[in-house]
Amino acid sequence: MVNPMNLLLNQIKPLLTCSAVEKGAIQCGYCTPGMIMSAKNLLDTNANPTEQEIRKGISGNLCRCTGYQKIFEAIKSIPNTQENK
Ligand code: FES
Repeated sequence: MVNPMNLLLNQIKPLLTCSAVEKGAIQCGYCTPGMIMSAKNLLDTNANPTEQEIRKGISGNLCRCTGYQKIFEAIKSIPNTQENK
């Protein structure tokens, strides 16, 4: 039987490992789940978003720590590969 939570974690793992942690886009981590899910949704529908599209894609999330620049850099750094979709 497939555990839906494991399936979700496996789907977002590349986002977590190659972007947010390595680029320093996580400070307190409060906004991170929403940012990750928004980034995944954006990249699922637009494999090569512009900076403006990234800003719009995560606009429903507020981050009080990072100033957003590292989050933008993290999302832009995600390789455009099928395994990250
Ligand atoms: S990392 Fe603290 S609110 Fe975003």
